[in-house]
Amino acid sequence: MAGYTDAAMRRACRCQGAALCHTEMTNDLGLLRADSKTWQLLETFDDEAPCVAHLYGSNPDSLAEAAARVAATGRFAGIDLNAGCPVRKITACGAGAALIHDPQRIHDILSAMRKCVTLPLTIKTRLGPRPDAVMIFEILAAAESAGVDALTLHARFTSQGHGGLPDLNLLAETKRRARIPVIGNGGVRTVQDARRMLAETGVDALMIARAALGNPWIFGEISAALAGGAAPDLAANADGHRDLGEISAAIESHMADTRALFEQTNTHQGVTPSAAESDAHLVAVFRCHLFRYLRGLKGSSYLRGRLHMLNSLADIRAAVAACLERESEYRSRQ
Ligand SMILES: Cc1cc2nc3c(=O)[nH]c(=O)nc-3n(C[C@H](O)[C@H](O)[C@H](O)COP(=O)(O)O)c2cc1C
Repeated sequence: MAGYTDAAMRRACRCQGAALCHTEMTNDLGLLRADSKTWQLLETFDDEAPCVAHLYGSNPDSLAEAAARVAATGRFAGIDLNAGCPVRKITACGAGAALIHDPQRIHDILSAMRKCVTLPLTIKTRLGPRPDAVMIFEILAAAESAGVDALTLHARFTSQGHGGLPDLNLLAETKRRARIPVIGNGGVRTVQDARRMLAETGVDALMIARAALGNPWIFGEISAALAGGAAPDLAANADGHRDLGEISAAIESHMADTRALFEQTNTHQGVTPSAAESDAHLVAVFRCHLFRYLRGLKGSSYLRGRLHMLNSLADIRAAVAACLERESEYRSRQ
């Protein structure tokens, strides 16, 4: 997820059982220009594996060249092409969901990438632009004939954005027709959702996006339940089931990793940030995760309206402590 799944978040998810993580969406042309901000999106921790580099673009040659350069870093387990992002800035350049209209172009891009990388090559796409224009079967055929290793299907149409129900029937039909593994995505928030998608579609694996925000435990909990363990209620913190110490520890380690990532990235660019710069970066980046971790706890809605007023690490820690204390008092009265 652009803006979220940096190495710090990926580490949180991996530690809690995510089997495979993807980088943020990264532009081919930025990589080829050696733009430092673009390469920063592909920063990984040394102990990070497996991680897939998630690329976007619209031109077969530049995507192939970018994929080759990314593969040459030796840090990635695979290369994934984005053919589903509906954001206007991306589609206006012919990338992301704009590719859904043109399976031949998808084929050309993936064939060019295939020639340049031996790593597993995958595509993430959607059902089609609109419910009256199902394109996934053509896209699947294009990907397969280009030699792609797996396809992730966000089982919604571009017109749905991230809302509305995923279409499990079309996901099932895609899986039935596929000769390559299909990873199902869209709307998996609970063990029940996971069981339902697997049972109704037969997909080979599940991809979870939004439900992991502030809730990295979802991966381990779903895996445990699917392996035959108990099925906990995964409605994040909403029911007050998550241990508050666990939430606090997760926030602290995610913050420490965010800082470490910033320092590592700067070091790679020959810069040593001051402690104040590291703090400022941490606060700016972590605000968007903070509310997710505290969502559903007493006092979190109050905090939500005041996130912009958290300007230092001390402010964040004080806000977390106040929220957890309120929740703890509330739970003790139950
Ligand atoms: C903030 C945000 C950023 C996203 N960025 C990407 C992206 O860069 N690449 C991508 O393929 N999908 C992206 N997505 C879509 C998700 O990967 C996923 O397909 C979608 O949210 C449905 O899955 P979910 O219901 O588990 O969230 C993003 C979604 C959100 C909410």
